[in-house]
Amino acid sequence: MISTNRIIIAIDGPAASGKSTTARRVARQLGYTYIDTGAMYRSVALKAIEGGLLESIRRDPGQVASILEGISIRFEGERILLDGRDVSREIRDNRVSREVSFLSSLKPVRDCLLVMQQALGRGRGVVMDGRDIGTVVFPDAELKIFLVADARERARRRLLELQAKSEGKTALPDIETLEREILERDRADAEREHAPLRKHPDAVEIDTSKLDIDQQVEMVYRLARKTEAAG
Ligand code: CDP
Repeated sequence: MISTNRIIIAIDGPAASGKSTTARRVARQLGYTYIDTGAMYRSVALKAIEGGLLESIRRDPGQVASILEGISIRFEGERILLDGRDVSREIRDNRVSREVSFLSSLKPVRDCLLVMQQALGRGRGVVMDGRDIGTVVFPDAELKIFLVADARERARRRLLELQAKSEGKTALPDIETLEREILERDRADAEREHAPLRKHPDAVEIDTSKLDIDQQVEMVYRLARKTEAAG
């Protein structure tokens, strides 16, 4: 049954804590729209990498304006379109994962995507996941979730994801390297000046280390139904 009281569900947490799988499935069950804000930051990073602009932006962060000007990021079902091109696969490359935290620490990037994200959630009935959704993008979200998990478990999940995607065709990083990269990204996301990764005081924290995906989806779904009913 689709509720008439449609809410905003903000799901934040560190890298590979299961946010996107949980958010996507909860959105489907509720008949809501799922917005993956990490995919938006990844698209900006991909544009910088493909344009060969990383080094000049590192030297002079103001240069990032040239990427943002006229940028178009759209969702079409499960696909993400950057300037009209489907980049759903490319944005998951490890080289994008390594650079995305740098790009997402820049104020012009955050300001640009914040406007897009708030517009996407205006009609409510959305599940949005990221790092700052409950704290900055939608501090008035009716339900805020903060997902955490052990770093080793997160590295294990990321490796499984990469294995499934590479279909044995490319060499994969080992689990220690992945764990190191994940912890490095967590540190960068939590320590940055603009919109750092933080748990909102009202957010419900869920540790997914020992939960399987069905269990965590069920927990968030129940909370969502309860929040809808209370509204
Ligand atoms: O899927 P995973 O947890 O690896 O990361 P993601 O959700 O795709 O986000 C990639 C990166 O984008 C994060 O490490 C952050 O640096 C940045 N990000 C952000 O700064 N703010 C958001 N709301 C979402 C992502």
